[in-house]
Amino acid sequence: MATEILLLNGPNLNLLGTREPDVYGAVTYTDIVARAQSHAQKRGAGLRALQSNHEGVLIDAIHEARAWAAGIVINPGAYTHTSIAIRDAIAAVGLPAVEVHLSNVYAREAFRHHSHIAPVCVGQISGFGWRGYVLGIDALLSHLGLIELG
Ligand code: DQA
Repeated sequence: MATEILLLNGPNLNLLGTREPDVYGAVTYTDIVARAQSHAQKRGAGLRALQSNHEGVLIDAIHEARAWAAGIVINPGAYTHTSIAIRDAIAAVGLPAVEVHLSNVYAREAFRHHSHIAPVCVGQISGFGWRGYVLGIDALLSHLGLIELG
């Protein structure tokens, strides 16, 4: 079976393209998924994407990923800064996860500087816009020993 990645996006990220484009860029959510899917394919991996505005739906998706995914690329949106439950879900399933943010959260308001999710992730990518998802896929596949970077 080919390596499969779960791409998870949290609240308000369905509005990408029109949501504060000066902060998050003009690329839509649909476009980001298409770009992530084609990039994963180039790397020999499959990618399934889910966006939800509901914490429990994201948690269910993380639990279900145990059955089929090799790892998770996740932009938890504002749940990054609030959700111990998403953090616990990632820790519980034990799948390697990479946290992605379009904006550089450390250059923004202080409440965005803390992530509940980062400590249970392999690492975090922040500030590279939609390209962060592509970088996240490469980081995850490289962590899994499936591609060679550099
Ligand atoms: C975000 C950063 C979060 O602080 C914010 O709540 C988002 C998007 C990002 O991708 O830059 O919804 O995760």
